[in-house]
Amino acid sequence: ETQPSTAVINLDVPGHTISKHVYGHFAEHLGHCIYDGIFVGEDSPIPNVRGIRTDVVDALKAIEIPNLRWPGGCFADEYHWRDGVGPRSERPTVVNTHWGDVVEDNSFGTHEFMDLCEQLGTDPYICGNVGSGTVREMADWVEYLTRSGSAPMSELRRTNGREEPWKVPFWGIGNESWGCGGNMRAEYYADLARQYSTYCREHDGNKLYKIAGGANIDDYHWTETLMKTLGDLGCGCNPRHFFDAISLHYYTYPGEWEPKQSATDFDAETYYDTMRSAWQVDELLTRHGNVMDVYDPSKRIGLVLDEWGTWFAVEPGTNPGFLYQQNTIRDALVASVHFDSFHRHADRLVMANIAQTVNVLQAVLLTDGDTLIKTPTYHVFEMNKGHQDAQLLQLSWIGGALPTRTVGNREIPLVSGSASTTAGRALISLSNLDLEASHEVIVDLRGHRVTDVAGRILTAGAVHAHNTADQPDAVVPRSFDVANVTDGRLAIELPAHSLVTLELTLG
Ligand code: AHR
Repeated sequence: ETQPSTAVINLDVPGHTISKHVYGHFAEHLGHCIYDGIFVGEDSPIPNVRGIRTDVVDALKAIEIPNLRWPGGCFADEYHWRDGVGPRSERPTVVNTHWGDVVEDNSFGTHEFMDLCEQLGTDPYICGNVGSGTVREMADWVEYLTRSGSAPMSELRRTNGREEPWKVPFWGIGNESWGCGGNMRAEYYADLARQYSTYCREHDGNKLYKIAGGANIDDYHWTETLMKTLGDLGCGCNPRHFFDAISLHYYTYPGEWEPKQSATDFDAETYYDTMRSAWQVDELLTRHGNVMDVYDPSKRIGLVLDEWGTWFAVEPGTNPGFLYQQNTIRDALVASVHFDSFHRHADRLVMANIAQTVNVLQAVLLTDGDTLIKTPTYHVFEMNKGHQDAQLLQLSWIGGALPTRTVGNREIPLVSGSASTTAGRALISLSNLDLEASHEVIVDLRGHRVTDVAGRILTAGAVHAHNTADQPDAVVPRSFDVANVTDGRLAIELPAHSLVTLELTLG
């Protein structure tokens, strides 16, 4: 029997804005993410607009995805954008050596991706090729996308059917350059990033937010090397620094990297080890942020976690190179732990991208022919939507300690939470990671009168529960009865393995 935990929230002390871009997405030419997942072609019997699945667009619009990263991932560093423009019948085929060794027909290229972003109403985040590309190739791609007038690349774009340039706010300079993106040392990559960045011009007022390829997990040397070689931040002798942000990749998995473990069949020990791995993101954001603080105390350079999520074994019988995995309540809780951490790091973390949007790794959507399945992770994005661009509210745990569990040599909290406020409302997210026990939380709300509380919950009888084509609604949010606020205090019993959101109307 654990004691209730008390969380104090000062509703009248808003903090940093939680960038909506921490709810960003990532779609790579990998397995069935782009092909079948997003793009089925105009001739498909599956309803589509210019080849792009209507059901997928509708589902992603409903969670208001703020940005979409493309075309990789590892694929980005072997992608040559010219292969993917012009008449489809004339586009060359290439081998996708990273993912399944399959032949890529380039039918989804720049115009299709930009069309997808326009249909979604989302900001494109394009990752350029440093590993096997050239400076000129990247510079030309930027010109092709963003320049008007009679420049060579704008003319080529026009020939290919698009008169007006697009706006491209986010630009990545390579991906995982320490690994699949070229196996470089930090020092070498840092110089290359400066070089490539120099030629990514800002045409016609298109401001490019340039994101340098960052560290893997806890490679603080990589972050430090980039910060040291970033350009001038203080002396005023250099008009600007070479990039605006640095990325970071971190995946959640139990045990070791290999062998991968099942997404649906796991015991309690494996479950808690997954939660240990999920909590580690908080330490990584703190420590990479600390390294950045040394060189950039005023936090002008952003941190971008542009790949995060669970990495489990592929579903039995599926191509091992396609990374297709199921998604349970466990994944939903991994997501909620990440979002709470993202909110707490709102001062430095400017963007995060779940890997990946459809049919790959911790997907928010799975497709089965013409059927679309929203995963438990999708529902976390939906329930947390109100945190996008809201102002962080500190949620301070006092009194009775949070329940914890020792996993390996780590002690992890079994309750996670965060809160934000905007326009006379506040949103509180609370997760109970305990597999068996419910936990009582008392929320002590100060600074504003609360006139209404609407509660929702995501859980199921078993933590292994997941959605399938036959049972698409096995895990969906339901309303959660919450007693009225009495003397500014709200008592909530969080059921085992659940996420609860509370939307408050402030008086
Ligand atoms: O998301 C799958 C892969 O994971 C990406 O292509 C790569 O960047 C990372 O290693």
